[in-house]
Amino acid sequence: MNAPVLAIDGPSGSGKGAVGQELATRLGWHYLDSGAFYRALALRVLEEGTDPADARVVSGLAVTLDLSFVPVPGAAPRLLLGGRDISDDIRSEACSGAASEVAAHPGVRTALLAKQRAQRRPPGLVADGRDMGTTVFPDAVLKVFLTASAEVRAERRYKQLKEKGFSVTLPRLLGEIRARDVRDMERAASPLRPAPGAFALDSSTIDIDGVVGLILERLRNRLK
Ligand code: DC
Repeated sequence: MNAPVLAIDGPSGSGKGAVGQELATRLGWHYLDSGAFYRALALRVLEEGTDPADARVVSGLAVTLDLSFVPVPGAAPRLLLGGRDISDDIRSEACSGAASEVAAHPGVRTALLAKQRAQRRPPGLVADGRDMGTTVFPDAVLKVFLTASAEVRAERRYKQLKEKGFSVTLPRLLGEIRARDVRDMERAASPLRPAPGAFALDSSTIDIDGVVGLILERLRNRLK
């Protein structure tokens, strides 16, 4: 039998990453940050000077993407691209924008599907992304759709980027978040949308611990 998957989908800044990592730690499960695949591909595209809109070339790069995750107890895994640590580089705004562009190509999504599914291992996997419940792990034991208002998400992102020393402004981030939402929700290939039967949660006014508690309660009922 396949290891159980907890799928958490939602837009950027909804808290999926923090919630997913905390859940994985508490459950003792593995954690998949599927956005990291699209970000790593975007980094490669930007570094090679390829146009992110070039579906054929970008899909070819996705097929040969050599990405590995190095687990770090109690923290996010480090991400290696061909052996090089790219964990910090992929968080830039340039990479965020290009990731959303490359993610729209059906050839890219197909190329990355098996790589994401290969992360499923006992005792279980917490998978965070946009299409975990709809496409990558349709048999997930619980599917969560986590949202928050665009304003709250922009403020969270602003704080994160400031702490990392990036120079950003709130209005610009809000504009970028809205543009990315539209692109992620309106693309034809695996658009961001709640999976049928997903548990919808709005994290605008609930903190990480609160969200984690609500999800754990549902999950434990499902695993009984
Ligand atoms: O979750 P994130 O912000 O790191 O994701 C970066 C981009 O990758 C985002 O704009 C949409 C895309 N993405 C996707 O299309 N499917 C996923 N499962 C995860 C991310």
